[in-house]
Amino acid sequence: MSNGNFYIETYGCQMNEHDSEKMAAALKRMGLTPVPTPEAADVVLINTCSIREKAEHKVYSALGKLKPLKKKNPLMITVVAGCVAQQRRADLLKKVGHLDAVVGAHQISELPSIIRRVRKTKERIDATQFTSRVESLHLNAPGLGPSRVWSYVTVMQGCSNFCAYCVVPFTRGPEQSRPSEEVIRDVRGLVNKGRREVTLLGQNVNAYGRDLGNGTNFPRLLQELDRIEGLARIRFTTSHPKDFGTDLARAMADLPSLCEHIHLPLQSGSDRVLKAMGRGYTLAEYTAKVEMLRQMIPKVAITADMIVGFPGESDEDFEQTLSALERIRYDQIFSFKFSPRAGTRAQNLPDQIPDEIKAARLKQVHAIQDRITLDYHRASEGVIEETLIEGIKEGSGQPYGRTRTNKIVNLDGSNCAAPGELIPVKITKGLKHSLVGERV
Ligand code: 5AD
Ligand code: SF4
Repeated sequence: MSNGNFYIETYGCQMNEHDSEKMAAALKRMGLTPVPTPEAADVVLINTCSIREKAEHKVYSALGKLKPLKKKNPLMITVVAGCVAQQRRADLLKKVGHLDAVVGAHQISELPSIIRRVRKTKERIDATQFTSRVESLHLNAPGLGPSRVWSYVTVMQGCSNFCAYCVVPFTRGPEQSRPSEEVIRDVRGLVNKGRREVTLLGQNVNAYGRDLGNGTNFPRLLQELDRIEGLARIRFTTSHPKDFGTDLARAMADLPSLCEHIHLPLQSGSDRVLKAMGRGYTLAEYTAKVEMLRQMIPKVAITADMIVGFPGESDEDFEQTLSALERIRYDQIFSFKFSPRAGTRAQNLPDQIPDEIKAARLKQVHAIQDRITLDYHRASEGVIEETLIEGIKEGSGQPYGRTRTNKIVNLDGSNCAAPGELIPVKITKGLKHSLVGERV
């Protein structure tokens, strides 16, 4: 019997997407059915992001849209989960009268009991306590992700670094790792369900195992996962440069299923800014690691995150970021204007940079990176790339997938490959955001 319908809206990072899968799994287990719009739902959940101000604003506008729906259907239960819930906590309940519950990063496994309580007692619930054992870390979300070909698997969550600009240590708490047997069991289960690829998630996968105190570390976990038969590809994100070392590079060079792509956020090319950010490395230390990677794995693709306009960033500091981009030549980057976040050290630093300057700097970063990315894409024309087909485009019937280096390939031709197939594809055209290729 149906216990009602639910709708989940997700903002933010891959970890959030995966948390939403876990919450959807929990709601399904209690008999609720997913629906594609909030209008038809009895439970509406917004899984939120507070990494930058813009992300947080989206949540308030999403909540605004729920107000008339709740008026029409007073029995509708509205929940805010994720980073904004964790940061704003009871304040959010106070401010938003039509909100029933806030559920923090450590409490998402409590979601079913929270829904039951709200239904029964109509109380408004603040479930945002941190715990030293996050239950949801140990949950899996079998088959509820966006793809039948690949899945996310959490290996650790939280961060103990406290970079000056970042809310994550406050919203997700300190680093906590999953026991490796649990990760291996989940990945096996996914492979048995037909998944060919997993993306291992953690705020800093290089810290994996430190808190377990049994000698486990990330490269060892990768070695074990690589042995799983039927698993074609392993990816992971994110890797903190200060903790990235030879062991992981060696794993990437040696393990057949580990894809040749690493996301290694640099954030700034200026040592002065890196120091103020508290990143724990200099540009020279970082580039030495990039050189080691490229030497050990010639075809490796390297991507990064960059922040422009960190407080005190001078023209000269910014020039160093631009020259780092030119010298490192990333395959792709994600770049952001610095956004002051409540509770972080950088929020109250002097010399905040005016928005016009941040916007102009971001534009310059985009221009350089767009050119470099296109160069790489064009240079791959004529090359044969192993491609894992992820889906078929509606309408055109064109299969699409990704290379081992995480580049999107759209196949020329309709229905010439099926999702889940791992095939050689000859790249015929390099575009700004993707590649075109033909099956060989
Ligand atoms: N302002 C701008 N960008 C930020 N990031 C994290 N915090 C902030 C902030 N306050 C970026 C970093 C990080 C990525 C996930 O988001 O580049 O690597
Ligand atoms: Fe944030 Fe720094 Fe932790 Fe990354 S390493 S999540 S940027 S505090």
